[in-house]
Amino acid sequence: MAKNRIVLGCQWGDEGKGKIVDLLAAEADIIARFQGGANAGHTIVVDDRKFKFHLLPSGIIHPDKQCVIGNGVVLDPFGVKEELDLLATQGISHQGRLWISPAANLVLPYHKLIDDVQEQARGTGSIGTTKRGIGPAYVDKVARHGIRIVDLFAPDRLKRRLEYQRVIKQQYFAGSTDERADLDRTYEALMALTDLFKPLVVDVSRLLNDAIRQGKVILYEGAQGSLLDVDLGTYPFATSSNTTVGGALTGLGVGPKAIDEVVGVIKAYTTRVGAGPFPTELVDDTGERLRSQGDEYGTTTGRPRRCGWLDLVALRHVVRLNGVESIAVTKLDVLDGLEEIKICQAYELDGETLTEVPLDLARLNQVKPVYHTLPGWSQDSTGLTAFDDLAPNAQAYLRYIADELGVEICIVSTGAKRQETIMV
Ligand code: GDP
Ligand code: IMO
Ligand code: MG
Repeated sequence: MAKNRIVLGCQWGDEGKGKIVDLLAAEADIIARFQGGANAGHTIVVDDRKFKFHLLPSGIIHPDKQCVIGNGVVLDPFGVKEELDLLATQGISHQGRLWISPAANLVLPYHKLIDDVQEQARGTGSIGTTKRGIGPAYVDKVARHGIRIVDLFAPDRLKRRLEYQRVIKQQYFAGSTDERADLDRTYEALMALTDLFKPLVVDVSRLLNDAIRQGKVILYEGAQGSLLDVDLGTYPFATSSNTTVGGALTGLGVGPKAIDEVVGVIKAYTTRVGAGPFPTELVDDTGERLRSQGDEYGTTTGRPRRCGWLDLVALRHVVRLNGVESIAVTKLDVLDGLEEIKICQAYELDGETLTEVPLDLARLNQVKPVYHTLPGWSQDSTGLTAFDDLAPNAQAYLRYIADELGVEICIVSTGAKRQETIMV
């Protein structure tokens, strides 16, 4: 079994990473988040209990697992407190097994204010962000005036850094009555959290590299999806972090040779929340059916997700970017009962047929998908646990995807619950 596995989304997020990470966590010692922030919403269903995590690694519900939040994550400290409090009410303790990098930049209330203001200013060109302050927090990090979690333990420095924010963010703060612009209040609120965070902050790069040397099993949990990567995704309709494989290394301080496997999570169809190109989007009854059958509403924002067919052209790009060799296909059950299923093989653009994404990904909003049609199946796949029990056409659909992408299928998910899974 692979000891160091990166699990990441291959589409525009919400592929079911939470479920897959929870599943694989049973065999892991450590589960580590490496990028993104509370824009993520990872759902895990165990029996009748549903957990939704935004910042905590999805392994946290396994009481014997160590969990890590890396330097690549932008961390909303108030959000973490909320998640930990909720977890405690569910009888799960994080003590002695949740570790946070000192270099994780904080998402503070003013980042959410700025996210709001910028989205409004973009007007019809708005990205449809989650308004969790993600972009503005990463901007501060890259501009080298971010506030890191380690600053909580140096109050004078924290105060100085907040004062600097007052100077450089005049445009947002001056005259604002929004309480998120109140830096004194933010300072006091942060000071109230120091006792919570002090015992959690450790050198996670050292922790992970020691664990790697000891042969421990580590899962690297991606957030968002590869097509939302700030460099390689559908920029500017993207998030502000590297959601692709390199983000796991820089976001945790681990070298490339440690990684044994990259598991790409692929939903059996495609969804997207927020704006941006989506060549296979269905704005018809079939799209509506996928949304209702798949319960496609955002875990973080509750927004309806846009739905469409699987896009092999985009997936080929993503498989290559990440060196994906094995995939976990989720939500196969949602396709049950469709007479036929389409799968995008190529794009038409400017009278040409493309089997790869165009050089300018922004042009994805101009491509016309070329579909291959496969027969559907009427049998109920929900809860099946053996590949051979799937309808022959469902098996054929999965094989078709794997062959076209040149990857192995390691998991097929047939329902939201932990045990509704086929380990291939
Ligand atoms: P993530 O962000 O990638 O972790 O995915 P989300 O949790 O945002 O969205 C996936 C949704 O699909 C969640 O509500 C899951 O409980 C649900 N889910 C995951 N796998 C399956 C599956 O195989 N079938 C069905 N019907 N639902 C699933
Ligand atoms: P998980 O981890 C789906 C999308 C937003 C928006 C764009 C930018 O649950 O898969 P941001 O708030 O990051 O600045 O928004 O990215 N987005 C996601 N879509 N799943 C996510 O996370 C997402 N995180 C961000 O909808 O289009
Ligand atoms: Mg999600």
